[in-house]
Amino acid sequence: MSQTYTIVTGAGGSIGQAITRALASEGRNVIMACRNIAKDSPVCEKINSQCPGNVRIMQLDLASLDSVAHFAQAIGNENIEIDALINNAGVMLKHHSTTQQGLETTVGVIFVGTYLLTHLLIPHIKQGGHITFTTSLTRFIGKVDRDFFNLTEQNYGRFKAYSRSKLATTLLTAHLAQELAPRGIHVNAGDPGVVDTGMIHMDAWFDPIADCLFRPIISNPQQGAVSALSASESNVSGHIFEKRRHHIIPLKWRNHPQWQWLREETERIIAPWR
Ligand SMILES: NC(=O)c1ccc[n+]([C@@H]2O[C@H](COP(=O)([O-])OP(=O)(O)OC[C@H]3O[C@@H](n4cnc5c(N)ncnc54)[C@H](OP(=O)(O)O)[C@@H]3O)[C@@H](O)[C@H]2O)c1
Repeated sequence: MSQTYTIVTGAGGSIGQAITRALASEGRNVIMACRNIAKDSPVCEKINSQCPGNVRIMQLDLASLDSVAHFAQAIGNENIEIDALINNAGVMLKHHSTTQQGLETTVGVIFVGTYLLTHLLIPHIKQGGHITFTTSLTRFIGKVDRDFFNLTEQNYGRFKAYSRSKLATTLLTAHLAQELAPRGIHVNAGDPGVVDTGMIHMDAWFDPIADCLFRPIISNPQQGAVSALSASESNVSGHIFEKRRHHIIPLKWRNHPQWQWLREETERIIAPWR
């Protein structure tokens, strides 16, 4: 008999831990999909010892499409039924680097790896289930154009890479919501707001000043988790959740002129693992 789980990527990170703990507190079964099992196993054990839900940990490196395919294969082999897939993992990197397949890492992890993971797991998501992506305010400054994948050491900027990945994720949310509507799968994006996690540390001279000014007034990881948690139990699809408030993804992103191109290019990249 199949067991039902919620899958949380980046579950060992700040917001990921808060999401996992909240789900496990409600007695839900959770799979923490983590890049570094040794680092995140103690988190899994602690949540398991304190919450009624059953939490387990599985290895997933979104910067390796082999790892993504291996993870999805393991879910299939165990005949796991997914009630919600929460795509929470993300990176924002000071320096340019590349994934196993040679993609810029931010784009590779947040968009391409997550795109492949989601498509490989769709057959295991139950009718009426949820897929939640994680977007960010930077979607408003992101660009999706024919240079989307052309981030080199010379033209790299962390906000440039991050914002385009988050905008692309928002476009994906809108299109999957439409496609999966006949199967009753709800597809939404959660925007956690600005959250006090390692991700907003800029490794810059102004960090101590920003810490003093902003950290006291921004959300903590528990508050940041509310957006993904609300999205993952909603009855709407194609919406962006900001904590418990939500709105439909704007028309300009539902009808983005470069979506078809982005999808075809991404499908070409992931074809060997599909
Ligand atoms: N903090 C904010 O203000 C803010 C605002 C808007 C959106 N977000 C989004 O919220 C999500 C959670 O971020 P956070 O603030 O909680 O940051 P975080 O603590 O740095 O968590 C990021 C998580 O993603 C995982 N990850 C990174 N690369 C991965 C890979 N290649 N494969 C699998 N997992 C990988 C990390 O694993 P490791 O620990 O092994 O690196 C970590 O668990 C991200 O999508 C982020 O973009 C955050």
